[in-house]
Amino acid sequence: MKTLVFTSMFVQLLVPCSAVIKQCYYPDGSPSSDFPCNPNAKESACCGSGLGSTCLNNRLCQSNNGNIIRGSCSDKDWSSPECAPFCLSADAGGTDLISCSNVTNADNSFCCDHTSGCCDSGAGRFNVLPKEAQVWATWNVEASSYRVVGTVYTGNPTSTSRAPTTTQPTTAAITTTSRAAPTNTSANDSDQSSGLSNGAKIGIGVGVGVGVVLLAAIAFLVWKLRQRKASSATAQAPMQELDGRGRIFAELDARGKRNQDLRPPAELAG
Ligand SMILES: *[C@@H]1O[C@H](CO)[C@@H](O)[C@H](O)[C@H]1NC(C)=O
Ligand SMILES: *[C@@H]1O[C@H](CO)[C@@H](O)[C@H](O)[C@H]1NC(C)=O
Ligand SMILES: *[C@@H]1O[C@H](CO)[C@@H](O)[C@H](O)[C@H]1NC(C)=O
Repeated sequence: MKTLVFTSMFVQLLVPCSAVIKQCYYPDGSPSSDFPCNPNAKESACCGSGLGSTCLNNRLCQSNNGNIIRGSCSDKDWSSPECAPFCLSADAGGTDLISCSNVTNADNSFCCDHTSGCCDSGAGRFNVLPKEAQVWATWNVEASSYRVVGTVYTGNPTSTSRAPTTTQPTTAAITTTSRAAPTNTSANDSDQSSGLSNGAKIGIGVGVGVGVVLLAAIAFLVWKLRQRKASSATAQAPMQELDGRGRIFAELDARGKRNQDLRPPAELAG
């Protein structure tokens, strides 16, 4: 029984590690048969499988015949910056990117497929960044998955060379704002960490406050105790003092000298 429980726990722990290959989706949310370029990442761009298929570090796919393709993405709603934000209007599948290097002399200059006159007119033409695409992951036949061999580019994925399409600027804007936020907060955080953190300040404040109250309480107690001692002492002191005075007056009387002002009460004089 115990071993059974242990084994089931062990299996449960193993399941996330044993790379259940993530499902990939086209921009319209329909499932694709692609594979994630980085199988270990939370989200990843996805490309078609097959010997010679590669993922490029600009998140596009290069098939074994050299075509550049915008594939799919493990994020079903395509909000992740890991998805390749190109030609999203062809949303029901992967789509070819047409090179415009014959016009622009730039290898990273493209148009979406079936956009007539795009390369020549420049309307809808865009640059994919980084300028020089590198291999990011290669198809591993034995493992039936992509294996990361490079580093994916994390900068802005595109720059439009002229008139942008409607979908591309929005995604580009989203990625820039979502990337600007962390640097902003980190700058703010580092500023705070150079001094005392708010928590430390509050802690010190509370500590000092409690200390002051405690000291005041102790001081009050000591004062109260002394007062009590003093009052009990003065309760006895008058008798001694008056006894003393009584003796003094007795002596004075004995010497026959009188002083009206210092005459003690009658009861004590006697
Ligand atoms: C450049 O290539 C594109 C795509 O193949 C084509 O549509 C365009 O007409 C070409 N332009 C020139 C000037 O050759
Ligand atoms: C945060 O970013 C905004 C706009 O990106 C900028 O105006 C502001 O100065 C930044 N603040 C900090 C603390 O970096
Ligand atoms: C940190 O952020 C706060 C509020 O967001 C702002 O008032 C403050 O100026 C920022 N600090 C720095 C160093 O930018």
